[in-house]
Amino acid sequence: MLCAVETSFDETGIALCDSAGLIRASLLSSQVELHAPYGGCVPELAARTHLSDLPQLWQHIEPELRAGIEHIGVTSGPGLPGCLLAGVNFCRGLAAHYGIALHGLNHLQGHIFSPFMGQGSEPGLSLSEIPFPHVALLVSGGHTELFLVRGVEEIELLGQTQDDAVGELLDKVSAMLGLGYPGGARLERLAREYPGMTELAEYSGQFELPVPMRSRKYGYNFSYSGLKTAVRKQIQERADHPALADNWQASLVAALFSSVVESLWFKLERAVEEYKVSLLTVSGGVAINGFIRAAFAERAGRMGVELRVPHPRHCLDNAEMMAWLLKLRLEAGIPAREFDARSNWVPGEPGWND
Ligand code: KG4
Ligand code: ZN
Repeated sequence: MLCAVETSFDETGIALCDSAGLIRASLLSSQVELHAPYGGCVPELAARTHLSDLPQLWQHIEPELRAGIEHIGVTSGPGLPGCLLAGVNFCRGLAAHYGIALHGLNHLQGHIFSPFMGQGSEPGLSLSEIPFPHVALLVSGGHTELFLVRGVEEIELLGQTQDDAVGELLDKVSAMLGLGYPGGARLERLAREYPGMTELAEYSGQFELPVPMRSRKYGYNFSYSGLKTAVRKQIQERADHPALADNWQASLVAALFSSVVESLWFKLERAVEEYKVSLLTVSGGVAINGFIRAAFAERAGRMGVELRVPHPRHCLDNAEMMAWLLKLRLEAGIPAREFDARSNWVPGEPGWND
């Protein structure tokens, strides 16, 4: 039995899986409502809540399952320093108590391999079944990164956002429109109300938003602060003309999703061509988005490339994907190593897997 603990941001999770990766127990305590009144995650509050939630969640795991644990993995980065320490220290205690190996796990690596997880009683792909290399896009509240994945620990960072992450952009636009936090799902619902938006994110309407970083000179990097400013400008202009059509918010948000889809796909398509891969994956909280899923599936299909996305329950932060990562690492023969919490630990950056 493998156990993994996730506390890098605002979700406290503990999951147990067997050696085939089938989930045997899973507990998740979301802090989203706790932080909502502040318009974003408050680090100290998150860390304190992890400290009090972890022992409580642990108590919910049946003693027979706990007794069968052979390896423990804990997210040791990247994430908020206090939150990571809460999980790491809790797991150091467990590992000492049960006398078992403790593995430090990379949260982004957890997202990257989440598209290969199974569902219910259906097992996921074994390590030998995962096509390498493949291109992996990670889009979440804190991350927008493109990777070339050659193996469990052979991950090359192709590019990343130079400023805001896609989820962060969506959360900020949601705040500008007074729709609350987190914003991604609310904005998606709003954009779906706009009749000029198709499932494939083709927008026709009055707004023209830029598609950022659409030049080869930017390589595989992304940037979303300019798009955020363009949206803010449009919102300010509408505020000065309240008599305009009343579905302008839905139209603007639809235009925003269309621009986001274009900007992400531009890099994905290029990476698939340059590295001649037959598989691309999209993971992270923003990968729940229906426009992204539908548009990428259609475009990948046209290129003759497979697209894999995780089940929605494995897109937002969760411990199941970390347990799955631990399973893959053990399959690859990667041993437990000494580690410390590393809040800026990004796969593919020099020395990341030391
Ligand atoms: O992976 P995640 O839980 O957090 C990080 O590790 O950063 O992702 C959270 C992000 C938030 O920014 C949220 O707005 C976004 O995922 N999100 C969505 C949707 N649901 C959640 N973005 C677009 N469409 C959605 N349906
Ligand atoms: Zn995450």
